[in-house]
Order: sequence, then structure tokens, then C-alpha cells
Amino acid sequence: MPESKTRESKTRVNPSGSQPTTRPSAIWGGRFTTGPDDLMQKINASIDFDQALASQDIAASKSHARMLAACSIISHQESRDIEEGLAAIAHQIDQDVFTYRRDLEDIHMNIEAALAERIGETAGKLHTARSRNDQVATDLRLWVRDALDDMDAALAGLQAALIDRAEENIDTIMPGFTHLQTAQPITLGHHLMAYVEMFGRDRSRVSDARRRLNECPLGAAALAGTAFPIDPALTAQDLGFDRPMANSIDAVSDRDFALDFLAAAAVSSMHISRLAEEIVVWSSDAFGFVTLSDSFSTGSSIMPQKRNPDAAELARAKTGRIFADLMSLLVTLKGLPLAYSKDMQEDKEPVFDAARSWSLCLAAMTAMIRDMVFNKDKMAVAADRGYSTATDMADWLVRVLGVPFRRAHGVAGKIVALAARKNCPLKDLPLSDLQAIESGIDQRIYDVLTVEQSVASRESFGGTAPHRVREAIAAARRQFLAGKNAPPPGHTD
Ligand code: ARG
Repeated sequence: MPESKTRESKTRVNPSGSQPTTRPSAIWGGRFTTGPDDLMQKINASIDFDQALASQDIAASKSHARMLAACSIISHQESRDIEEGLAAIAHQIDQDVFTYRRDLEDIHMNIEAALAERIGETAGKLHTARSRNDQVATDLRLWVRDALDDMDAALAGLQAALIDRAEENIDTIMPGFTHLQTAQPITLGHHLMAYVEMFGRDRSRVSDARRRLNECPLGAAALAGTAFPIDPALTAQDLGFDRPMANSIDAVSDRDFALDFLAAAAVSSMHISRLAEEIVVWSSDAFGFVTLSDSFSTGSSIMPQKRNPDAAELARAKTGRIFADLMSLLVTLKGLPLAYSKDMQEDKEPVFDAARSWSLCLAAMTAMIRDMVFNKDKMAVAADRGYSTATDMADWLVRVLGVPFRRAHGVAGKIVALAARKNCPLKDLPLSDLQAIESGIDQRIYDVLTVEQSVASRESFGGTAPHRVREAIAAARRQFLAGKNAPPPGHTD
């Protein structure tokens, strides 16, 4: 994740501000005689969290200044002065030596005030043909766009880890479950590739979100557009957007792009939580399918033998807060009249929180997948338990004896009950026992009762047979990982 996103609360805010609160805002206080009450300032200020938008705010302001100059609304010299001043502020922010002031409310006014301190009156020209409403909408779009690109890369990294581990385990047999009861034998490679598909769909949600997001609100100003002869296509292009937004009222009031981001995060984190849950279950003593290394286990303060899968449990849990982030913004936006209301300032924290949690979970899951040891012997033993080849037996009765499937299911059920009474696996029942239940059964039935044979026989497209899994891995590498290092379409760095 770009540095700007991890910096949200790192930089100190001067809590009282360097101006007394009894003086009206230098930026918007023209018609005011006194400044805001302390409490007003406290509830109104967003600088504590929207400082994360600093680099986006500066990039958008530079573009806006260039456009104003290109359209002869300010001079080229003024635009250069503004750009230089903004570059110096960006440098201060990068060096962590910029002091944010809460009395200046938000990132936009903090940067504008710093610019005025640096370059004097010309700074005041930057806000021509612009409002904080189109400014903040632009900044947040830029931030979310970067975050979407980061998430796409992180999801691809997780897919790569899963594909590598699947490739090592094309022939590793494990039980497949339904209802968490042994169902049919499968290969571990096949199971891991199921997650590759899930994270692939997450990536397609990410790219859909990016495509819809990529329109520029600048030029909408407060809500109605502007009387200045601006060229919104210029700023849009300069900032890597596909086009300016078509309706100025929509431009300042739309937060669908943030919801798309959060919705994609919610579904993806649901997938992460399912994988995390499997790691928790598989690493339990009762299963013993995987062992996490010391680096991904924690101990207990009382039970010396414990190795707990805390990272997987936390990834499972963080899904909850990501769902809450989506709900929080949906509820904030619900029923808001057009165009901008201050409620919309509450859009940022859920987005930042979800991005932080989503990216941390993806990184932790990727590392755990690469790190864990699969206990193949335990998986093989478990695959053999629970009469996991009973379906193969029923299928044999259909295929070889021509018995309708429903009746074959009943016959196989009786054989399973007999094996359970005798406390032995299906393959150890003598032929005479099988023939007592269904006279036509012959020796060949034993060929389908081993887990290896069962897995090899499931050759339908998308099935668990090793050669199918090998094909699926090759296809997934082509679909998801080819040109992994190429920037996504529309990316502009
Ligand atoms: N900090 C504000 C926000 O995040 C900026 C927009 C302020 N606009 C206004 N009309 N008060 O939404």
C-alpha cells in the first residue's frame, strides 16, 4: 500500500490550532464575527483522518492550477508558483515535518493555508472555479483508485501462493467435506484452486469498481458547475481519469465508488474468512492436516503445549469490521438529499479502515499459505475414513450392472451400514458379503473403492482428477498471473 495510506494518524495534529477559536475562519469566515465553539470545532474537523488524502489533494490541486492557466483564468507564472509551493508542502509532509491544524478543519484548508504562508496572495487563486465539494470527491476517488490497484496486486499475490502450493499437491489426497462430514476424496491441489477462483472473482469486482470510479468530479465546484471558462477534460486527463463526470450535482454527491470498494472488500474478506477458518480447523489437533511454523503461531500464557493460529483467527474476525464499514457508509448515505451534506465527511474512515484490514489480511493469508506444512499422511488417513468411496460404489453399480442410480444408492447404503457394523472400511468387506446384498456384484468393484482410484476417476471438467487439476493450474496461471507486473489498464504513475 502506498505510504500515504499508512500515514493516517502518524503525523501530529496541533489540537488547539495556532489560532484562537474565537476568531472566524480565515478561509470561510467572512460573514462571521466569532469563531466556532470548541465543540463545534471538534465535531467538524476531519484533519485527524483526512490527512491521509494529502498526496491526492496536492496532485489534484496541481492539475487544477495547470488547467486554470491553460484556460487563461490565472497566469502561467501563478500556476508555476502554486505548483512549486505545493511541491514544497508535499516534501514537508513526506518528511513528517508538516503540522496539521485542527482549527483549519480538513486537509484541503490545511494545505491551502500552508500555501498562502509560502507564496502569499497567489495561493488564494487556486480555489477559483473549485469548491471543497468537488475537491474532496476527487481526492477520495484518487485514493480509492490507488487502493483498488494495491488490492488487485495483493489478491494476485495470494493467488500466486495458492497456485504454487496447489501445484506441489496435485496428487495429495485429502477428504472433501460437505457439512464438515467426510464426503468424497479430493486432491489438496483441487481444494486450494477453489480459492484461486474466489480471489479471481474478487479481482474482477475490483476492476469493475475501478472502471466505474474513473471519472473526474473536478469542475462541478459546489454543485452547479462554474461560470469560469474551465476545461474539465484537461484535469480529468491529467489525473488519469477517463472523462469528467457528466452531471455536476452527481459529481459532488456520489459516493458509489466508495461503496463499490467496500462491497468488493466485504465479499473478498468473506472469502478470506473461509480460508482462515479452514486453516484454524486444519491446524487443530483433531485434524492435524497442517502445521503452521513458529512465525505464524502463538503460545498460551498458561498451557505450554499450545500453538494457536491467531493470525488466521484475526483474519477471520476482521471480516466483521469490514462488513461494518460497508454498512456504516450505506447507512450514512441513505436518505441524504442532493447534493453535498456534511454527513458525507463520514465516508472516509470506513474506507480507510476497510483498506487497512483488507490489505493486512491478504498479506497475512499469503504468508501463511506459503509457510504452512501439509501433513499428507494425516490427510490420506482421514480421506480413507467415513466410507468416502460409497459414491464410487453406487456409480459402479450404475455403470457396470446397469442399476438405476436411486436403487444403486440404496444398495451402497446397505453395504455402508454393514461395514459400520463390522467396523471395517468398504474395501475390506469380503465379496460374499457384498453379493448377499446385491447378487450381481463381482470382484471388479474393489477397483473403485480406493481413494486414489476415486480421485482419478473424477475427470469431468472442473473435477478433482489430478490431470484436470494440472490443466486448471495452467489455465489459472494464464488467466490470473500472466503479465502480473504490468500496470492495470488506466494506471498513471
Ligand atoms: N472535509 C469535508 C469532507 O470531507 C470537505 C468538504 C466540505 N464541504 C462543505 N461544503 N463544507 O466532506
